[in-house]
Amino acid sequence: MALACFKFSFFSPYAVRRNNTPLLPPPPSSSLSLANIRGSRRRNFVVNASPQTNSAATSVIFEPFEEIKKDVLTVPIAPKVPLARQNYQDESEAAINEQINVEYNVSYVYHSMFAYFDRDNIALKGFAKFFKESSEEEREHAEKLMKYQNNRGGRVLLHPIKNPPSDFEHFEKGDALYAMELALSLEKLTNQKLLNVYSVANHNNDHELAHFIQSEFLRDQVEAIKEIANYVAQLRMVGKGHGVWHFDQKLHHHV
Ligand SMILES: [Fe+2]
Repeated sequence: MALACFKFSFFSPYAVRRNNTPLLPPPPSSSLSLANIRGSRRRNFVVNASPQTNSAATSVIFEPFEEIKKDVLTVPIAPKVPLARQNYQDESEAAINEQINVEYNVSYVYHSMFAYFDRDNIALKGFAKFFKESSEEEREHAEKLMKYQNNRGGRVLLHPIKNPPSDFEHFEKGDALYAMELALSLEKLTNQKLLNVYSVANHNNDHELAHFIQSEFLRDQVEAIKEIANYVAQLRMVGKGHGVWHFDQKLHHHV
């Protein structure tokens, strides 16, 4: 692109042509390139400016009161229409509601395990404590997803929860190992469901939802899987009976 060349007086705020006619309007300083001519007694500057730069200085590039007239930015007036909703697809909304149901289902199973190990003829207080806390944690996950749903202008829709088993006895493995293996499978299933939500978010270009799932759930889920995998491995070592009692004591005093 050819550049026009002008003289610039150090003492004048405006550039002038060689025939001393002023350049009007003066271009903004950010659009000019000034080069000090070394050796000049009057310290003149050379101003390199393109005709496009001058025209850009006079045009408005952002007109908010025009742009908010677009349909997607108008504030809805119907009473039941969400006000905060933006770039939030129905598929994402449904995926969050499904994940809420997953978390509640897992919470329900863990609560049933708590009730089993708290029985008077089982009396494994450490396992009861562990599964009670796990149940509460899954419910907190469901609530976190509910809050997110509302933040995005979605609507929480609670699905039915299937009743879990109430007995966790297993002739070969014993109840402690059987319950912990079941917990490991449930945590892996939860992780798989979370990855599904993450895929839905990416499919819909919903970077905010993808970031939410990744930062608030996926790392914790991987750590939960590792923790329970460790317990399964240790319970396989100790077998049934006395070893389980010691393991229960460890869980009971685990902070
Ligand atoms: Fe969870």
